[in-house]
Amino acid sequence: MEEKKDRIPAHVAIIMDGNGRWAKKRGLPRSMGHVQGARVVEKILKDASDMGIRYFTVYAFSTENWSRPASEVAALMNLLLTYMKTSIPNCMKNNVRVRIIGDKSKLSPEMNRAIRELEDTTAGNTGILFQIAVNYGGRDEIVRSVRRLAQQVKDGTVAPEDIDDSMIEAGLDTSGVPDPDLLIRTCGEERISNFLLWQGAYTELYFTDVAWPDFTKEELQKAVDAYGGRIRRYGGLKQ
Ligand code: IPE
Ligand code: IPE
Ligand code: MG
Repeated sequence: MEEKKDRIPAHVAIIMDGNGRWAKKRGLPRSMGHVQGARVVEKILKDASDMGIRYFTVYAFSTENWSRPASEVAALMNLLLTYMKTSIPNCMKNNVRVRIIGDKSKLSPEMNRAIRELEDTTAGNTGILFQIAVNYGGRDEIVRSVRRLAQQVKDGTVAPEDIDDSMIEAGLDTSGVPDPDLLIRTCGEERISNFLLWQGAYTELYFTDVAWPDFTKEELQKAVDAYGGRIRRYGGLKQ
């Protein structure tokens, strides 16, 4: 069944890439690119919400990003901690619900406390769901889900032949959220870099040369328009 999607995608995911290159071009330290990138996320979240997008997922820190220089990892973790600690009033004002995806067990206790407070405080909001991927890897997420199922098999509560897509999905960090309709990657690279591997099985991909710190509502609109013009066979919300 072919379906022309000239509508707004329900779920948009973004690989926010190019902060480092943006900074380098201006003779600034990479960390300044991340600072500017963090400002842009907040703006684009509001734009996405205003456009009628219902789920918005951003890749903030991958399982592979720990291998960057310690000072850059620290700068990124600091920015994330600041966001978790200071964004509650804004999220309440804009009716945003926040959820962190990724393996939180490797994040600091302070970060975990801030995440819990942000998630709990915004849990009742009914506007856009903002998912932030921190220490996230698609393979790692699938491994954690499979490990949970293996334990259930071992305990005798699940039979191997009963395992299906929905049981693997139920153990993912994104469980309950529809798969992304549109995935945008900025700054010219055209790869998935371990983002939403399971959920992205039928996601439309959109690449732009614009670096993340230069990304605007107009760029988001271009991606949404490109999506609207494509024919999709599977995926998307039943509307
Ligand atoms: C994306 O920008 C942000 C993170 C990965 C945290 P990069 O830091 O990857 O920027 P480039 O790719 O080096 O330009
Ligand atoms: C992907 O970007 C991760 C995030 C945006 C957080 P990277 O810049 O880390 O990915 P690679 O290394 O180019 O694949
Ligand atoms: Mg990069």
